[in-house]
Amino acid sequence: MIGSSAKSEPDMNPIFAKAETSVFETMSRLARERQAINLGQGFPDDKGPDDVRAKAAEAVVDGWNQYPPMMGLPELRAAIAAHYRRFQALEFDPGSEIMVTSGATEALAGAILALIEPGDEVVLFQPMYDAYLPLVQRAGGVPKFVTLRPPDWTIHERDLAAAFSDRTRLVLFNNPLNPAGAVYGRDALALLAAYCVKYDAIALCDEVWEHVIFDGRSHAPLIAAPGMRERAVKIGSAGKIFSLTGWKVGFVCAAPRIMSALAKAHQFITFTTPPNLQTAVAYGLAKDDSYFAGMRAGLQRSRDRFSQGLVARGFSTLPSAGTYFLNIDISPLGWSDDFAFCSWLVKERGVAAIPVSAFYAKDAIRSVVRFCFAKEDLTLDGALSRLDHVARPR
Ligand SMILES: Cc1ncc(COP(=O)(O)O)c(C=O)c1O
Repeated sequence: MIGSSAKSEPDMNPIFAKAETSVFETMSRLARERQAINLGQGFPDDKGPDDVRAKAAEAVVDGWNQYPPMMGLPELRAAIAAHYRRFQALEFDPGSEIMVTSGATEALAGAILALIEPGDEVVLFQPMYDAYLPLVQRAGGVPKFVTLRPPDWTIHERDLAAAFSDRTRLVLFNNPLNPAGAVYGRDALALLAAYCVKYDAIALCDEVWEHVIFDGRSHAPLIAAPGMRERAVKIGSAGKIFSLTGWKVGFVCAAPRIMSALAKAHQFITFTTPPNLQTAVAYGLAKDDSYFAGMRAGLQRSRDRFSQGLVARGFSTLPSAGTYFLNIDISPLGWSDDFAFCSWLVKERGVAAIPVSAFYAKDAIRSVVRFCFAKEDLTLDGALSRLDHVARPR
């Protein structure tokens, strides 16, 4: 009889159905419940530049609000090309090498779907952004991990040699690296590029933090490393460039052959991105150098204020060369489990942070805890005073 063997609940894909609630969500929920200061999730207190937001508002009211072109507004694609020429000496053809996506996350998802087949190996550097592994697994990729370790998160050649093989199709590389706050320079990039070339792999370069980098550093894009122009996909995000993380306007740059595959995936995922936000981002990317320098200087000041406050309270901080994040080493405090420390901190001290082991799939480092310092002085100072006496020997 029809239905007699039906299950009471239908099966679903286990990668998402069985995924646990993310640590960001858990910590934010605890922060709300405990009225804690939330230095967990990575978003700034700042409202973002007034003129860029005004441009978006104007475009909503007076502009075009129907489907924009699938590849993105021509004015935004031209602005992205000009922006990367100005800041990174890169040349992209806006007509065939640039696509606008709904955030870097869509760019990542589309690229992973477009570039690998089930059974292909994908090299992932851990700690890694939480979306990478489920997306790779859902696309049938076989993850091969390179483990990076504090305090300097160096990429060792022996680890690349162990992770790459003739089955490697894709490498996911995030630089500057969230959550580590590490910034990789030309030597590390040249080493990684040599492995991509040797194994004929494509690099998916998540560079959403490219402008959030401190102490006079400049960002080195992997696509400029030897042999990478035809085998790298560069991903950026307006959310990070303009401190407007909710906007979800991303962009992808790649050689035309790769771009045509990425565009096919994009057309069936979001197809397009709100036109008014695209207009505002095009305007923003053309802003004076002083805007970008000022944004960096403001964040660097917050980093230093928070870091000095932590050191004065006896914490041991790790270097932060970029991103919104500063890490501490909790082992000198007598803690050996970063999850336990973060749960204790949010419940007992009212400060939410993120355990860095959440960014590892295996062999997790359990001694590092991440704080977001992209907050107003008042918020940072409030958190610091709640951290008084935590670093005393327990
Ligand atoms: C490394 C990394 N990649 C991607 C993203 C997501 O970017 P978007 O909000 O543009 O999707 C983030 C956001 O924090 C990130 O840190």
